Amino acid sequence: MSELVERHRRRFLDYVAEQRSRATSQLANFDLKRDHSLRVLDNARLIISQAGLDEIIAETVLLGALYHDTGRFPQLLRYGTFKDSKSDNHGRMGVRSLREEGLLDDLALARRKVVLSTVILHNRRDLPRELPYEVDLGARVVRDADKLDILRVMLDHVCPGATRDRTVMLELEEDAEAYTPVVLEQVRGRRQANYMDMRFVNDFKLLLASWVYDLNCASSRALLRDRGLLDELLELLPDRPEFRALAAQLQGDLHRDQDENSPMTWAR
Ligand SMILES: [Fe+2]
Repeated sequence: MSELVERHRRRFLDYVAEQRSRATSQLANFDLKRDHSLRVLDNARLIISQAGLDEIIAETVLLGALYHDTGRFPQLLRYGTFKDSKSDNHGRMGVRSLREEGLLDDLALARRKVVLSTVILHNRRDLPRELPYEVDLGARVVRDADKLDILRVMLDHVCPGATRDRTVMLELEEDAEAYTPVVLEQVRGRRQANYMDMRFVNDFKLLLASWVYDLNCASSRALLRDRGLLDELLELLPDRPEFRALAAQLQGDLHRDQDENSPMTWAR
């Protein structure tokens, strides 16, 4: 790891430890988001590893990955939830904290702006068109890296026998069979499902599955395939004809592009 990224990794861990030390509950969820951030950094490194990026640009992308969820810590501390709709947009909270704490002060202004833009864009439903190259690249890689790890984390929380944490499960209703038809329709229509439409835990599984349609880089789709995350997720949906049909569609779509050779091929 470059000296710069390593220095920021330590700085990020100090920031999290300081936020955590002020909390009186949900300490495990501070650890969850800390470890998630570090894995997103690792995922981002894997996604760009074959892309032959300029080293400065690669480092900037990695800093965006490391800091993307900075806002989760003040969000948890202040509001006790990860639900943005009940608290505040955690992308914006992250930018505020990074500025207030001066965590990026050693970076040149242009670079700092790219990292802050990545943080603010990482949780937008869609990316704006016509972004500057470095912002577009950073946002796309970090969004992919984030989704790959959220999938892993959520699988651990939704698998049978797991202890469900209400905060992590975004306070959704537990019901083995229930789901929201509009969420299924979004995935069937090959669109990313909308968080706002979710009501049941099964909706969350459908939303996660819809990310097959929102991964930007061919290398991210390869990681999704190689890690078997989609297969694992589809196993957890109720055994019904509509879900079996959806599983076939998703598997077909995910495997269709595996012969693409450029790791940074955008999905659209
Ligand atoms: Fe996030």
